[in-house]
Amino acid sequence: MTPKDRIDKLRAELHQHNYNYYVLNTPEISDKVFDDLMRKLQDMEEQYPEYKDESSPTMRVGSDLNKNFTQVTHRYPMLSLANTYSEQEVIDFYDRARKALNEDFEICCELKYDGTSISLIYENGRLTRAVTRGDGEKGDDVTDNVKTIRSIPLILHGNNYPASFEIRGEILMPWKVFEKLNKEKESREEPLFANPRNAASGTLKLQNSAIVASRKLDAYLYYLLGENLPCNGHYENLQEAAKWGFKVPPTMRKCQTLSEVFEYIKFWDIERKNLPVATDGIVLKVNNLIQQRNLGFTAKSPRWAIAYKFQAERALTRLDKVTYQVGRTGTVTPVANLEPVQLSGTVVKRASLHNADIIEGLDLHIGDMVYVEKGGEIIPKITGVDFSARSFMLGEKVKFVTVCPECYSKLIRYEGEAAHYCPNETACPPQIKGKIEHFISRRAMNIDGLGPETVDLFFKIGLIKNTADLYALKTDDIKGLDRMGEKSATNIIKGIENSKEVPFDRVIFALGIRFVGETVAKKLSKSFANIDELRNADYERLIQIDEIGGRIAQSILAYFSNESNQILVERLKDAGLQFSRSEEDLNSYTNKLAGLSIVISGVFMHHSRDEYKELIEKNGGKNVGSISSKTSFILAGDNMGPAKLEKAQKLGVRVVTEEEFLSMIS
Ligand code: IVH
Repeated sequence: MTPKDRIDKLRAELHQHNYNYYVLNTPEISDKVFDDLMRKLQDMEEQYPEYKDESSPTMRVGSDLNKNFTQVTHRYPMLSLANTYSEQEVIDFYDRARKALNEDFEICCELKYDGTSISLIYENGRLTRAVTRGDGEKGDDVTDNVKTIRSIPLILHGNNYPASFEIRGEILMPWKVFEKLNKEKESREEPLFANPRNAASGTLKLQNSAIVASRKLDAYLYYLLGENLPCNGHYENLQEAAKWGFKVPPTMRKCQTLSEVFEYIKFWDIERKNLPVATDGIVLKVNNLIQQRNLGFTAKSPRWAIAYKFQAERALTRLDKVTYQVGRTGTVTPVANLEPVQLSGTVVKRASLHNADIIEGLDLHIGDMVYVEKGGEIIPKITGVDFSARSFMLGEKVKFVTVCPECYSKLIRYEGEAAHYCPNETACPPQIKGKIEHFISRRAMNIDGLGPETVDLFFKIGLIKNTADLYALKTDDIKGLDRMGEKSATNIIKGIENSKEVPFDRVIFALGIRFVGETVAKKLSKSFANIDELRNADYERLIQIDEIGGRIAQSILAYFSNESNQILVERLKDAGLQFSRSEEDLNSYTNKLAGLSIVISGVFMHHSRDEYKELIEKNGGKNVGSISSKTSFILAGDNMGPAKLEKAQKLGVRVVTEEEFLSMIS
C-alpha cells in the first residue's frame, strides 16, 4: 500500500468510528484503539504534508494557533422564531396557518435546543464553512472550531446529497460537560458560566481551537436549506440528512392535529429533564416546503413556525434578609436568605443576587415576596418581585454593603466590573483562610493531610495567620488538637516539608494573586527565572507576555507592591520554597528573542508548530497570531499561505526559514 492509500484508509476508518460514537452512540472500538489510529494518522500526515486535507479527522484535534474570525454574509439570512409562552397563542398560530393555506397541513414538532445556532455549508460532500448567527445577516467564520465537534460530519456518507447546501442547527454543551467545566473554573476562582448556552457560545468564540476540542461540544441539526433538496417536506429532508451522517434530533414528530401537538408539548415539558442537553421549549413548523413558501416570512421570522417556550420552574417566597459572602480574592457576593420553598425537587433557602446592580434593578425590599428560578443556572436566582404582594408596611430597601461584613474595610469596585471587593487581603479572615486553603490545595502546594477544616482550626486558635506560618509549625504544636494523634500530626508536618519541592510555577499559582490561575502562573514561570525578576517587572514587561493583559498585569503589580505580601514572600523564600526555575529548566532558557513578536506560518520539517511556539517563548520571544507592522519576523515553513506572504511583503516583515530560526537560537 502506498503512503497515500494508507492515509486514505486511516481517514475513512476514523470518520466511521467517529460517526459510530458521536452520532449513533454505538462505538465499535475502544477509546484507546481510536486514539492509536488517530496518532498513526497524525504521524503520517506530519511525514507526508503533501497529502494535507482540510476534512481529515485530525482537524478535530484543533490547533493552538490564534486566529481572528472573519465575517461572512449568510446566503439566506438567519432569522429568529416568534416566541410564545401560552397555549392560546399556539392555537392562534395553528388557526392562522389553516386560514392562510386553506388546506390540510402537517406540523413538525421539535425540541427547542438552548445553545448557540450555527450555519454549516457543504460543497461536494465536505464541510467548507461554519458561521455563527451574528446579527442574522453576517456572522463569524468559526470553521476551525466547528471541525473539532465530533458529531458534525466533515465528509458526508453516500452520494445522495445535493452538491451544495446549507444545514443549520444548534451547538450545545451537554450538562455533564458544563458541570465539570464550571467545577474546574470554581477551583481556579474564575467566573463561572451562567448556563450551558453561554458556555457553548463562549467556547465557539475561543481563538484556540485546541481548547474548543477539549470542551466536547455537541450539535443537533434541524433545518436544511438549498436549491436541490431531496424531498418536499422538512421532516423528510432531515431524515435524509441523517443518512448523510448528520445528528438530527430523534425526538422530531409529525403531527396531524392540534391535539397531537399538545400531547407532544405535554410529554416533553416533563421528559426534557432527562435529556443530556438543555432545551427551553418546542418549535412547531409547518412541514410542507411549498406551504412554507406560501406562508412566507415577516421581517424577523417565518410565518410557518413558532416557538412555544417552557415556563422556567419558579417559586414564590419571602425574602428574610440579605447576607454577604467574602471569597478568597475578596469578592463580596450578596446572598438572598429565603423562607424555605420547594423548587424542582429540592428545598431552596438561599439564592444568588449576584451584585449591587442586580439588587438595584429589582428594587428589592426586605420582606418582599420574590420569584426564585432554577433556570439553566446551578445556583437558584431571584428573578423578580411580586409587587402586588407589597403591603403598606414595606420593609427596608436592600442596600449593598459599603464595608466588608467580615473585617469592616471600605469596599472597592474596579472600573468596568460588577463586583465589589474587600481590599484588605492580608487581614480579612475569610480571605486569609481562603488563601491558605488555596495554597495547600492539590493543584497548588498539594500539602497532604491538611484540609480546610484543619486550616480553619489552626487559624481560629491563632496558630497560623498566613501561609508562611505553616512552615514554622512543629509536630508538638498541633498534636492533641481536636483529637489529632501523633501520627496525623507528623504526617501534616511531613506534607508541609515535602511541599518545598513543588516547582516554581505552582508556587506562583499558590500565592493566590488575583487573576493568576494555573495557566498564567505557568506563563510567568516561563518568562521569569525567579521571583525577584517577577516582582521587579513593570507593567510594560508583563503585558509583553502571551495571554497577559492589563487586568492581570495590574493585579500582579498590586500584589507585589503590598508590604505584607513582600514580607510573606520573603518568609516563604527563607522557608525554602522553590522561587526560581529548576537548574535544568534554566539552562534551556535564553533572552535571544527578547522583545520580538513572531508569527508562525506553514508546515515544518524539524519541529511541530507547538514546539516552535515553546522555543520562541523559552528564548524570550512572543508568538503572535497575525501579521502587523509590529511583527518582528515570520517563522515560515512550507506552504505559507499566499495572503500572508503578500501581507508580509507589503509591511516589509522579514520571512525567516526554519533553519535560519534554529541557528538564531542555537
Ligand atoms: S428553526 C427560521 N428549530 O431558536 C427559523 N430553531 O429563535 C430557523 N432553535 O436561532 C430556526 N431549536 O438557534 C429551529 N428545533 C429548532 C430549534 C431552533 C433551537 C433556536 C435557533 C434559532 C432560535 C430562534
